[in-house]
Amino acid sequence: MPERPTDFIEGMTTMACNASCAVHLYAANRSMETRFLYDADAELLLVPQAGRLELATEMGRLQLEPQEIAVIPRGVRFQVRLLDAQARGYVCENFGAALKLPDLGVIGSNGLANPRDFCTPVAAYEDREGDFELVARFQGNLWSARIGHSPLDVVAWHGNHAPYKYDLRRFNTIGSISYDHPDPSIFLVLQSVSDTPGVDTIDFVVFPPRILVAQNTFRPPWYHRNVASEFMGLIHGAYDAKAEGFVPGGASLHNCMSAHGPDADTFAKASAADTSRPDYLTETMAFMFESCDVFRPTTFALETAQLQEDYFRCWQNLGKHFDPARP
Ligand SMILES: [Fe+2]
Repeated sequence: MPERPTDFIEGMTTMACNASCAVHLYAANRSMETRFLYDADAELLLVPQAGRLELATEMGRLQLEPQEIAVIPRGVRFQVRLLDAQARGYVCENFGAALKLPDLGVIGSNGLANPRDFCTPVAAYEDREGDFELVARFQGNLWSARIGHSPLDVVAWHGNHAPYKYDLRRFNTIGSISYDHPDPSIFLVLQSVSDTPGVDTIDFVVFPPRILVAQNTFRPPWYHRNVASEFMGLIHGAYDAKAEGFVPGGASLHNCMSAHGPDADTFAKASAADTSRPDYLTETMAFMFESCDVFRPTTFALETAQLQEDYFRCWQNLGKHFDPARP
């Protein structure tokens, strides 16, 4: 958390970016009081990890707490006000198609994130004049202009280019009730589609509390490498595939075709587990910004003191278990 007075704009640090999106962390200890922000490059997906926020937007106000998310469309002016002393979280800047709910395919009419759980604000204008600043994110830079009144002066509105929020605890999680671990696309909350069917520029995925019941199998996510690049964060609790070293507010990056999977401790525990009994995963809320484009970590991300130089060691104790004599 910052030591000096820091608002949402000042407290934003870019961690990684690619052609489709940029991932930022924010840490703030004061509200934006006399300045307002809009992003001309992208819509913004906010994922608070600590501290409640009020997003005062042109279309009204959204109150947001950790384990909830909000999306602010491209160009909409807003202000981030803190409802607690400090706030911290993640932001995904989406340069591509607007985020939308995925088609459910054979799942049918309900499941995953249900449309009924998304909240859009009602108009809430302020008639305020003063020496204010309007900050624009444009072509990757921040630009500042003086403005003599609050731009949050919309008395009424209609349309669908509007901010919204969603409580991740409302996610209707779907998983295996027979054997094996399905593809993580079953955890998809929102997607930004590309021009290629089935390939998304951003998949926003969550790993919420759930009950694992698959039998005679390895229940955690399997070891894999894939074409997608995965930026992962932890909002609350612990992540089931990393017993240690992945704390709330932290992040991990597994880029295109980098092999990864559960750490050695998780492997050992899951391999010895009694799968005749359900496994109740509670106190967890991890998420992933997954992209078809490779993430480039920023200099800050590569040089920060928090960088886990020995991350690879979590797999070093994995032994060879192949025995051709065993059936
Ligand atoms: Fe993965």
